[in-house]
Amino acid sequence: MTVLEAIQKSTEFLVKKGVESPRLQTELLLAHLLKMPRMKLYLNFDRVLTAPETDSLRELIKRRGQREPLQHIVGSTSFCGYEIAVSRHGLIPRPETEILAELGWKFLSTRNLQPSTALDFGTGTGCIAISLAAKCPNAQITALDVSADALALAKQNAFQNQVAERIEFLHGDGFSALKYGTEFDLLISNPPYIASAEIETLDPEVKDFDPRGALDGGADGLDFYRRLAAQAKPFLKVDGKIMLEFGDGQADDIKKILENEKWIVEAVQEDYSHRARILIAHK
Ligand SMILES: C[S@@+](CC[C@H](N)C(=O)[O-])C[C@H]1O[C@@H](n2cnc3c(N)ncnc32)[C@H](O)[C@@H]1O
Repeated sequence: MTVLEAIQKSTEFLVKKGVESPRLQTELLLAHLLKMPRMKLYLNFDRVLTAPETDSLRELIKRRGQREPLQHIVGSTSFCGYEIAVSRHGLIPRPETEILAELGWKFLSTRNLQPSTALDFGTGTGCIAISLAAKCPNAQITALDVSADALALAKQNAFQNQVAERIEFLHGDGFSALKYGTEFDLLISNPPYIASAEIETLDPEVKDFDPRGALDGGADGLDFYRRLAAQAKPFLKVDGKIMLEFGDGQADDIKKILENEKWIVEAVQEDYSHRARILIAHK
């Protein structure tokens, strides 16, 4: 079978399995298998796959057909240009979270004369904490998660990206893991925000492979915002900022939750599809 035939056959299979962007997914898996950039496949359409390559491709495509996310199959993803290993223990980093991370490091770098500090609440794979540490060489980051498995993954990612020495990893349930009186310049979080009953309606790639504890935001999806709004102030410096990602359609509710707790909401930022997805506030 040639590269082109393999792409066509695998794409047809993934179409039947209801996978989104089946041709792209096929090409990415084949490029991963052949260890070449995807575009190079186009120069190799007539190359004949060896028998072991064909077997391996069949296996990869079968897994994707079972709706296992591409990132789990290849083992990693890119976040703000950093390679982040992924597994069932940490939410696969999403593109809109890159916007949150960028807002975070831009703010921290305005405070770079002194060592600036940030708390990444619910670090998962560590993607936000790692980007902040990498972009702000003077910053000290605390990465907090209730999942010990997620923290282990975050640590591994921090080592791989050579920023582990500037990240403290804390295991615990929310602010109870922190020493009272610890104050950060930035409190940044992409907390779980899906309403519990909605989880079953999500794509299999999400509901069956992202950790439940990374998705479930309680009955209306807003539990973590209530908690952050009520409990975060003592952990933030007077001139610090809180930056929160949230789901599409939640902006008004989250703004109200923060304002009820006397936060000053400075800005609501949109994602690449022009949907309000990030809120910035201060005390
Ligand atoms: C939506 S994921 C975000 C992961 C990562 N920060 C990102 O943006 O890709 C939320 C994370 O919050 C963690 N989490 C859930 N409840 C928590 C709690 N009570 N205290 C600390 N972390 C919690 C989950 O384990 C999960 O890793």
